[in-house]
Amino acid sequence: MIEIRNVSRHYGTVRVFSGLSLSIPDRKAVAITGPSGCGKTTLLRLIAGLERPDSGEITIAGRLASSPDYLLAPSERSIGFVFQSPALWPHMTVRENILFGLWNLPGSAREDRLIDLLNTAHISHLAHRYPHEISGGEAQRVALLRAIAPRPRHLLMDEPLSNLDDDLREAMISLIITIMDQEDISLVYVSHRRDETDQIADRSYLFRDGALREVSEVPAPGGSS
Ligand SMILES: Nc1ncnc2c1ncn2[C@@H]1O[C@H](COP(=O)(O)OP(=O)(O)OP(=O)(O)O)[C@@H](O)[C@H]1O
Ligand SMILES: [Mg+2]
Repeated sequence: MIEIRNVSRHYGTVRVFSGLSLSIPDRKAVAITGPSGCGKTTLLRLIAGLERPDSGEITIAGRLASSPDYLLAPSERSIGFVFQSPALWPHMTVRENILFGLWNLPGSAREDRLIDLLNTAHISHLAHRYPHEISGGEAQRVALLRAIAPRPRHLLMDEPLSNLDDDLREAMISLIITIMDQEDISLVYVSHRRDETDQIADRSYLFRDGALREVSEVPAPGGSS
């Protein structure tokens, strides 16, 4: 569980939000929509430990992660991050990009994890290609696999589908849903689009004027996967 309690963030004299609170339960997908500039990316960066709150605190699994005078390193948070653009390492193949975070596993376990992930995303045939040799939709799938490969407990996605056309968007949404079923992971999913968040999220919030309002309780799909 990630708990955000009364968190405020300013940039100089610009107040992005203050007194913001949100709980992200284990194994649940929480979506946040809201207008440009309302603070969605700032909130994800605070959760990831890339920024420090001006007041309030964030705990992860009951442990203090962020406060004005304490910042647990991003690498110690068990968090994976997928950005709007895939940001793959250009000098590494698809395989090497995904294996990057698995250096501490024995060779056979790394290989098994890699094969499973490539199969789940239907991109086994791309393993030996470089990022410039695959499409944007494929690259975004690789970025997602790279983020979850080390089995983080939490995944943050910041408008990951906004550069994709409708077909690729649907394929990526099914992959995200499959991954939520298979992995022991919680998700914070930021998007402009309610149609995406309705498909993916257990709980959706609208972020507006510095406040988060729950907009819907979407029932879990009835046993199908
Ligand atoms: N490093 C920074 N320095 C100063 N102001 C910043 C900085 N980063 C963000 N801001 C400001 O903070 C506000 C929130 O930015 P943020 O990127 O979190 O918005 P967002 O909701 O993610 O927007 P979008 O939907 O366009 O991605 C904006 O007004 C932005 O200009
Ligand atoms: Mg943003």
